[in-house]
Amino acid sequence: MANRLNVVRTVTALRRVLEPYRKPREHIALVPTMGALHRGHMALVQEARRRAKHVVVSIFVNPTQFAPHEDFASYPRSFAADIKVLREAEVDLVWAPSVEAMYPDGFVTRLAPEGPAKASLEDEFRPHFFGAVATVVAKLFTQVSPDLAFFGQKDYQQLRVVTQMAKDLDLPVKVIGVPTVREPDGLALSSRNAYLSTAERTVAPMLYRVLRGCAARIKSGEKVDHVLKVGRIEIDVAGFALDYLEARHALTLAPLASPKDRPIRLLVAARLGKTRLIDNVAV
Ligand code: PAJ
Repeated sequence: MANRLNVVRTVTALRRVLEPYRKPREHIALVPTMGALHRGHMALVQEARRRAKHVVVSIFVNPTQFAPHEDFASYPRSFAADIKVLREAEVDLVWAPSVEAMYPDGFVTRLAPEGPAKASLEDEFRPHFFGAVATVVAKLFTQVSPDLAFFGQKDYQQLRVVTQMAKDLDLPVKVIGVPTVREPDGLALSSRNAYLSTAERTVAPMLYRVLRGCAARIKSGEKVDHVLKVGRIEIDVAGFALDYLEARHALTLAPLASPKDRPIRLLVAARLGKTRLIDNVAV
């Protein structure tokens, strides 16, 4: 049976609806999204549903995290369909602020994350990105004040940046990373997969195949630098324009300090035509 689903659009309304949820031993979970929901987002919602009494999903296509040349205007939007699946998933509340509600006239305060946000991975190609994400997620955390917040490992650097931000700002929220949901052929689900042509879609799963191959070879003792070198060639030969393929410390995202430095995360970003894909795996 579909439950009652509140959709709120102002901070005042949000606080009013959340007030009765705040009871001892009743957790509130937040799942931040930009909408255009797919099974990857819904895995976060299901995990939130499992672990908290009250589930809030935010839908906000955050303009500040898109550079002028990026796809803010054309980013997929499917609000009515999103509300339908969230109702079926028994979400309690959708927080869908307007841009004006999130950034009223006169808004001037922004976070400037370092550490995992300055790892020379996504930040190298999207220098504006993590400051904007850290700022909007800090706002979402203070607006909703959740006990738990769920993020996908799909955006691994984002997960590390948000975790560090919550820690550094003493926000009383536990950030939980949820494993990446994939298509049967291995391609990580992403709203941007819709941009792939039929030919590009057949090549796209190669990214995950290369990551898995590299992880297996590093695990079996091969030298990381050599494995990455071969992996970069494989991605190039498959027809991608590679932005990076790197092995990093899984928590700090710093370069590996020694051959024994663990745990390792492999991270990749590559372009197929006009679509930029990112993915990562544990070693
Ligand atoms: P968005 O791209 O909508 O993603 C929302 C959440 O869904 C993120 O935590 C992302 O990692 C997760 N997600 C996306 N694809 C996934 C998949 N295939 N498997 C598992 N989880 C997946 O990420 C953002 O929005 C924004 O940057 C946001 C955090 C909302 C701040 O604006």
